[in-house]
Amino acid sequence: MTNNKLELRKLDINDLDNLIALQNKIISGFHPDEQHFILHRTREDFAKALNSNTAHVFGLFDGNKLVSQSILSLPADDQKRELPEYASNYKNSEIAVFKAVLVDKDYRGQGLMKRMLKTREEVARFHGRKIAITQIAADNPASWVNALQYGMQITKVGYDPEDGAKVIYLQKALYQSESLNIDIDKSQKLALGSDVHANVPILFNKMQKMSQCGLIGTAWDKERNAILWHPLKEEKQQSKIQINQVISKRAYGF
Ligand SMILES: CC(C)(COP(=O)(O)OP(=O)(O)OC[C@H]1O[C@@H](n2cnc3c(N)ncnc32)[C@H](O)[C@@H]1OP(=O)(O)O)[C@@H](O)C(=O)NCCC(=O)NCCS
Repeated sequence: MTNNKLELRKLDINDLDNLIALQNKIISGFHPDEQHFILHRTREDFAKALNSNTAHVFGLFDGNKLVSQSILSLPADDQKRELPEYASNYKNSEIAVFKAVLVDKDYRGQGLMKRMLKTREEVARFHGRKIAITQIAADNPASWVNALQYGMQITKVGYDPEDGAKVIYLQKALYQSESLNIDIDKSQKLALGSDVHANVPILFNKMQKMSQCGLIGTAWDKERNAILWHPLKEEKQQSKIQINQVISKRAYGF
């Protein structure tokens, strides 16, 4: 179900209070063990993003009410970028980083996260970015399943170098030339099980192993409630992923 009545806007500093209010509402709805699903941004963090020329903050409004927000970061080559541990074979100016998507509880399940993914993808492509990347907490399957459904691919599974949290890294090619050359004839399924939240620790270990073996999580099979994994076809493409994996092995000592 898609809610098309909501109005999409690029936010500015006048929306600061709205952003804080929605974030606070969402944080207060989290269980204690869900608090790390999102970075708890301060007023200063949001103000910095709203005033930055390398970030775009988007909001979806139901009338005057902000019901969803997200950030797109388009780093410059001379800047320190987010997720330096990922996709480091790309220059900053080739990358778009998807961050901080939040949807008001009353508006979930209507495709708003996907709409935010689509919006940021279009803007990133408009700015000539080659790939979009994101990092999602492993125990937030609502978010990574959604990103997979949208067409992002899992290419790395590991630990956040800053806080050690279990995380999943996903990417999407914004141009055909950047697409990973997947061998669609060889697939493996990873069933998520009937209680995906309870299964996260086991799923994380399995996904990490699959990713270390060079498999790419490419799609979600709704009927079987499973993730499909495929190997890459060509040497050339393989090297793109291998660079990431070598770096993660060095950083985390696998
Ligand atoms: C994650 C979040 C943004 C999803 O937003 P949403 O607008 O409800 O997502 P969409 O409507 O686009 O997609 C729904 C899909 O997401 C997945 N999903 C949503 N909630 C889920 C849940 N609780 N458990 C498992 N999967 C879930 C399902 O696959 C669902 O697909 P289906 O409708 O075919 O079953 C929203 O739940 C949220 O704001 N959570 C709190 C903040 C957060 O975790 N942000 C992500 C940070 S990376």
